[in-house]
Amino acid sequence: MTELDTSVFRSGLLTGQVALITGGGTGIGFGVAELLAELGAHVVLASRKPENLERACATIRASGGLATAVPLDVRDAEKVKEAVDHVAQTHGRIDLLVNNAAGNFYAPSATLSPNAWKSVVEIDLFGTFYCSQAVYPVMAAQGGGRIVSISMTLHYRGWPLMAHATAAKAGVDALTRTLAMEWAPQKIRLNAIAPGPIPTEGVKKAFTPPADSGVTDIFAATEARMSAYAKKSIPLGRWGTPRDVANMVAFLASPAGDWVTGAIFVIDGGEWLAKPPM
Ligand code: COA
Repeated sequence: MTELDTSVFRSGLLTGQVALITGGGTGIGFGVAELLAELGAHVVLASRKPENLERACATIRASGGLATAVPLDVRDAEKVKEAVDHVAQTHGRIDLLVNNAAGNFYAPSATLSPNAWKSVVEIDLFGTFYCSQAVYPVMAAQGGGRIVSISMTLHYRGWPLMAHATAAKAGVDALTRTLAMEWAPQKIRLNAIAPGPIPTEGVKKAFTPPADSGVTDIFAATEARMSAYAKKSIPLGRWGTPRDVANMVAFLASPAGDWVTGAIFVIDGGEWLAKPPM
């Protein structure tokens, strides 16, 4: 039985849709791309690393999906516009943009360099705005579209050593609500998803604490300890998976998401509500 056989989504649900996914070559972005492609969408994967894109596209095509790669650094507004125009010209439309590209690392705020701050805020917040703004004319001209941005929960209470990422993701939430109101007349729905802990390679790298910080590296633990940590710290008792996020993206991309805009969906097994102080 394939994963789709157990899915609530019908086969061919997104056939004919074109979905642009930033950071779609790995991690959560790739998980989203896989599900959308399984449901019939043509996925266009954008990221800085061509080798990741090629591998991801090959995997999706090998399963019978439609996938194309677009090399892109979301921090470059001009390049974003060129890439989006290219996708729109090639495919004739863009139904869904998933703002998934993100950068993050643990670092003390007192010594964070201007470039380190800029690097994360530019990827997470500026990139989300540049990509959203670039797809606006395409979606407006075709009568509507969906934008889903991947946010986080750490800024709900604040998170030491992540001033850059928490500030950027708070901005992503604000953008989601503001653009949802501004672009509703064009039938462009904007929503965000705030995932809890999903131990992808990128997340493990981003959440490696500096040696002298006193912060526990939860991802460095053995499988057994990680599993014990999840049972203790996540009310639903397990780590998240890219598919947990992908399912919500598919729902929002489907006709069922027609009256949903300006919402931020926390998908974290209840983790942030239950989290004890660091
Ligand atoms: N601690 C402190 N500063 C750091 C750092 C860290 N762990 N990692 C990067 N920086 C600083 C660099 O020193 C540089 O600043 P400087 O020029 O003043 O020295 C600045 O950030 C940019 O670094 P660079 O490596 O050129 O950034 P980049 O734009 O190529 O990549 C990231 C930035 C965030 C994508 C990269 O650090 C990364 O791969 N992070 C882990 C993976 C990840 O973020 N995955 C997403 C999961 S949410």
